[in-house]
Amino acid sequence: MKQENEQKELHVNNADTLLTTNTGVRVSDTDNSLKAGERGPTLLEDFHFREKMTHFDHERIPERVVHARGSGAHGYFELFEDMSRYTSAGILRHTGKQTPVFVRFSTVVGFRGSADTVRDVRGFAVKFYTEEGNWDLVGNNMPVFFIQDSIKFPDLVHAAKPEPHNEMPQASAAHDSFWDFMSLTPESMHMLFWVLSDRGIPRSYQNMEGFGVHTFRLVNEQGESHFVKFHWKPVAGMASLVWDEAQKIAGKNPDYNRQQLWESIEEGNFPEYELGVQIIEEKDEFMFDFDILDATKLWPEELVPVRIIGKMTLNSNPDNFFAETEQVAFHPGHVVPGIDVTNDPLLQGRLFSYVDTQLLRLGGPNFQEIPINRPRMQVHNNQRDGFMRQTINQDRKNRANYYPNSLNNNSPRPATAAEGGYVHYQEKVEGHKIRKRSESFNDHYTQARLFYNSMTAPEQKHIAEAFNFELGKVEHLHIRERMVEHIAQVDVALAVQVAQEIGVEFDEASWKAKLKDTAHNVADKVASAVSS
Ligand code: HEM
Repeated sequence: MKQENEQKELHVNNADTLLTTNTGVRVSDTDNSLKAGERGPTLLEDFHFREKMTHFDHERIPERVVHARGSGAHGYFELFEDMSRYTSAGILRHTGKQTPVFVRFSTVVGFRGSADTVRDVRGFAVKFYTEEGNWDLVGNNMPVFFIQDSIKFPDLVHAAKPEPHNEMPQASAAHDSFWDFMSLTPESMHMLFWVLSDRGIPRSYQNMEGFGVHTFRLVNEQGESHFVKFHWKPVAGMASLVWDEAQKIAGKNPDYNRQQLWESIEEGNFPEYELGVQIIEEKDEFMFDFDILDATKLWPEELVPVRIIGKMTLNSNPDNFFAETEQVAFHPGHVVPGIDVTNDPLLQGRLFSYVDTQLLRLGGPNFQEIPINRPRMQVHNNQRDGFMRQTINQDRKNRANYYPNSLNNNSPRPATAAEGGYVHYQEKVEGHKIRKRSESFNDHYTQARLFYNSMTAPEQKHIAEAFNFELGKVEHLHIRERMVEHIAQVDVALAVQVAQEIGVEFDEASWKAKLKDTAHNVADKVASAVSS
């Protein structure tokens, strides 16, 4: 209760109040600086002027290195189906209970002020304020990712962001460095097809799916583990823009998605998303023709059906964009007892990256104390000090800020599992220390092909047009050629169409003959292009 009151004190309502300085002194004039004489110079002693200007001068913080442009909303999650069989997490066991959430939707590549309706991946990050601490499901609107190992992420993002010399283009995949990297990174082909499909330009956040992407674990009270993938299914259904619309809207209203989200919540047309899970038993880990730890692969729903277990409703807009949407700090490592990570090498790197970047972006180690990031319970530990520390630990009374201690037998101690202490799943791990990709991650085209073949004719046409548009802007012929060869691995007819449009010679007959041994063909070319 005390914590709730403290939270309320942080939500300031300025209605019917008098202006004050930050030290609480009432201000008599905020339109004229203090001067020596009516037409004289401004005086340094004008503390109100100095404070007002200094605060303004320091208003900006670094934007997120990726997902800089975003829109947030508050809401709640309600569970339909008790998942106790799989997990000890209260949020997935207590049906009917409403857990508060904060969600941030985003584009990835563009700057904070860039347009909403660009072709890009969309972030779909959810913070659940559960009774056992905060759980973040930091997902995207596509079920797979470009790369398999997080060590490639800085390269991917450098290639996708505007080019380093002229900072162009500001928010689009259409440039040589992006396509150069794609063409040298066959593992990205599956994701690339998703991005170039209609999924790359959602009509609204309300009409968008979300995916946790990685394989996580659910762990039950007996310590048994199941592999899980999380899905969000929009109750309003999915809808996309077509490219022509998207381009026009980007010019006319760069806030198109942000505004739709805001207005639909203000009008009481609350965006809703069902939470689905796909579950694989531990014993079935190696049953599939792909590796379930490979983030460039999805689990086909025909093989592993999605089970709908709950629903999230977004019913309230933020009071303040900066304090909430900008300062929120998500992290895939924010898990609660009963939910755990796996050895997915993409996820493993993310577990490092988010806190690291937030230490910079949010100015030091105390960003979890920012109201939007605080868990809905008091935090008890011996972490102290640092820039912008807000908590006033009662150390005069309690004295010991270390563990173990014999000065204060009331100081916080670790919780047992029965008391809700987080216990990591005891997975057995052994092997050589080695820098190598598992061979089980090698197939880069099968799921891209499945995806392309699952599209209707108009959807396939949109993919072809997207390739034509994007690759048509690539200056270097060798990059276009390499991309056509990748496309041919997925669908030869598509490669023929694209090659014609972008001026690449492509011999369909001889390619088909070669196809028999092409699984490694493109990969070999990539290897030689990189080494030459
Ligand atoms: C944001 C790193 C892959 C979803 C971020 C940020 C970083 C980052 C540094 C900015 C965070 C901040 O400033 O608060 C990485 C790395 C990845 C990776 C190193 C791969 C190794 C992914 C994947 C997904 C994803 C696979 C989806 C499953 C997001 C989302 C945000 C984000 C949704 C925005 C969160 C927000 O709205 O504040 N990522 N990311 N990222 N990332 Fe990743």
